[in-house]
Amino acid sequence: MKSKIVKFKNASTKILFNASFSEIKRLFNKEKIIIIADENVFNLHQNKFKAYKSIILKPGEANKSQATVDNIINKLIALKADKSNVLIGVGGGVITDITGYIASIYMRGIPFAFVPTTLLGMVDAAVGGKNGINIGIYKNLIGFTNQPSHIIYDWAFLKTLPEKEWQNGFAEIIKHACIKDAKMFALLQKNNLKFYQHKKTELANLIERNVKIKLKIVQSDEYEKGERKLLNFGHTIGHAIENQYKISHGHAVAIGMTYAAKISEANCDFKKVIELTLLLSNYGLPTKIKIDKTKILEVISMDKKKNGDTISFILLNKIGKGGIQPLPIKEVSKFL
Ligand SMILES: NC(=O)c1ccc[n+]([C@@H]2O[C@H](COP(=O)([O-])OP(=O)(O)OC[C@H]3O[C@@H](n4cnc5c(N)ncnc54)[C@H](O)[C@@H]3O)[C@@H](O)[C@H]2O)c1
Ligand SMILES: [Zn+2]
Repeated sequence: MKSKIVKFKNASTKILFNASFSEIKRLFNKEKIIIIADENVFNLHQNKFKAYKSIILKPGEANKSQATVDNIINKLIALKADKSNVLIGVGGGVITDITGYIASIYMRGIPFAFVPTTLLGMVDAAVGGKNGINIGIYKNLIGFTNQPSHIIYDWAFLKTLPEKEWQNGFAEIIKHACIKDAKMFALLQKNNLKFYQHKKTELANLIERNVKIKLKIVQSDEYEKGERKLLNFGHTIGHAIENQYKISHGHAVAIGMTYAAKISEANCDFKKVIELTLLLSNYGLPTKIKIDKTKILEVISMDKKKNGDTISFILLNKIGKGGIQPLPIKEVSKFL
């Protein structure tokens, strides 16, 4: 096991790589732990959860909602939970986003930690402290930035991860490569999904590398005034597609990155659109979908990065170098 402590403005997070889930009973008082997980993870890894109080949710993005929040809060009340408890979100991004949000609002804040179980959660969603829920089709409209006390990486969870979820994780990995790490882009070009599914050490190294990229960005700009916006590469159009078409986050972001690359080509002379689409395809990700332009523009007009008729759009100057540029929504619309 390898651990490091990462400092943020108002908190610090202990990150444990190569850890075992059972580490949680060493880190916290076992009686005070309340696990939040979804049915898929709970059923596949039941033996891990036996010893703890748990709140089990229906899986899926549709449940990252206010109704789920109400349900969890009622269960916490029934468990007589208070600030002496610790909520541990064990799951993908849906679970860690909800857990972080509940822990931030219940009794104005109680301790919480994450055990990410999807690749996407490990490299992205569990890292950086953003949490929240969706309101209808508006993704992550409500939420906080609040750091977990611990993020515990147990690779064993990945053994049960469905193929599609591997692909989703690679969408965020490719995103990190695009905005910050040209060498990682080249490494990903050399390998493929199967390679990482079978090479434990290479996978662990890749996950750590991505966690570090994200942490560095978050530490420099925790509350998203500038640099952190880069992490939204592919997400403006991606988010609009995600909830309109009920496709998964990573798949939607892959399509969003393809649009953003084309907009970058026209606006900042980006030259690697084809390389990016090939790489996405190599990791099983889609690069296009038939969309209803009006509906997509309607969602983009509610995006948190919008300011009047312009939107802070993340473009690529080259691979490994993302930039933030205000673009008229009309300009974005031309490419849809
Ligand atoms: N907070 C952030 O910074 C941030 C960043 C990126 C994404 N997100 C959010 O994360 C969410 C997407 O995350 P996700 O893709 O992990 O979604 P998810 O939590 O829905 O998990 C995807 C699916 O995998 C299943 N699953 C999870 N772990 C498994 C395992 N080990 N074995 C088998 N099945 C498993 C889940 O039950 C679910 O069906 C979105 O809501 C997105 O907005 C948040
Ligand atoms: Zn994302």
